[in-house]
Amino acid sequence: MRSKYQPYYDPDKSWETNLKNGPFGIFADGENITRKGEPEYELFDHKIHLPFGIPAGPLPNYNFINAAFRKGYDLPVYKTVRTKAKATHQWPNIVPVDAPKELKPKNNGLIQKDEYSDPLSITNSFGVGSEDPNIWQPDMRKAVESADNGQVMIASFQGTNNGEGRDAFIKDHVLGARLVKETGAKIIEMNASCPNEGTSDLLCFDLKTILEITDKVKNIIGNTPLLLKLAYFEDKQFLREYIKNVGKIIDGFSVINTIPSKIYANEEKTKQALPGKGRLISGVCGAPIKWAGIEMVSFLNNLRIKENLDYKIIASGGVITPQDYIDYRKQGADAVMSATGSMWRPYLARDIWNNFK
Ligand SMILES: Cc1cc2nc3c(=O)[nH]c(=O)nc-3n(C[C@H](O)[C@H](O)[C@H](O)COP(=O)(O)O)c2cc1C
Repeated sequence: MRSKYQPYYDPDKSWETNLKNGPFGIFADGENITRKGEPEYELFDHKIHLPFGIPAGPLPNYNFINAAFRKGYDLPVYKTVRTKAKATHQWPNIVPVDAPKELKPKNNGLIQKDEYSDPLSITNSFGVGSEDPNIWQPDMRKAVESADNGQVMIASFQGTNNGEGRDAFIKDHVLGARLVKETGAKIIEMNASCPNEGTSDLLCFDLKTILEITDKVKNIIGNTPLLLKLAYFEDKQFLREYIKNVGKIIDGFSVINTIPSKIYANEEKTKQALPGKGRLISGVCGAPIKWAGIEMVSFLNNLRIKENLDYKIIASGGVITPQDYIDYRKQGADAVMSATGSMWRPYLARDIWNNFK
């Protein structure tokens, strides 16, 4: 079935047009969802109406964050920013893909589909473009302040490897965290799991560097809670050691980011779908990665209980229906988010509220 809604971030339009004229569809209809009563949930001492939001990605500026709040997404994440301006990959940045029910990390590649139909499965490839802090800092500040009672915005950032060595890379994270903190953001997320950087190794798998960075970032942001955004980890023994160590420094884990795959334009797999160098491999999200998100949340929750750790778990990966929200909550997620699902089902927050509140 095809979605009847225009996505609020519209993949048919360029990144620039989305930034300038978005959001689209029902996020632009001016209708506000109103909540009665006091918020019942809590995340890091912030009262929340519904622990549900949109993860880093489809909300690239204040206009999108503000619209998401008005549509009942109480935990929207401002798309990942950097310490310096960086161009976004060439359009298209999102295409629908034909994926198996469960997409595994080692797979033979996927083929682009013609339309966004169920089961919703897409690849996204932006390369984490960013405005200069002079532009994004005031915009992010406005976005933070647009939260109503029972809502809080999360700010995502990542460091940039400028080829100047490990120390410079670590320093760039610390600077990024400071710039984000200056906007008044109440919860900060560090993205260490972007598969669209053109490198094969994700930062999040480098435990030594992550320990060093998170420690330094925590130092600079003080009491502001720090979330670390992770990819799916196949090696559970490594994941156990990893979480036991990193979990003592940071305040929560956001799991999961996309699962990388080769994306082809044709059945013969001779032509890549997304134009440009380094874009054959791209992150896949939506329905086919839910199994992996559930597995990670369940693992982190069991470990948290067993080891008496107290990090929060923010879930994302294939949340398309209200039942997906419940499935993640049952596995121990403190909050749940939907990127792909919410784009084509923009009333998802309202539907969860009406079904399960
Ligand atoms: C359009 C789009 C852009 C994204 N950009 C980012 C990003 O900038 N930073 C990040 O940490 N994750 C990014 N993601 C990944 C999502 O935050 C999320 O982890 C992933 O899509 C899985 O959730 P889903 O199945 O609900 O889409 C992006 C996802 C989408 C769909």
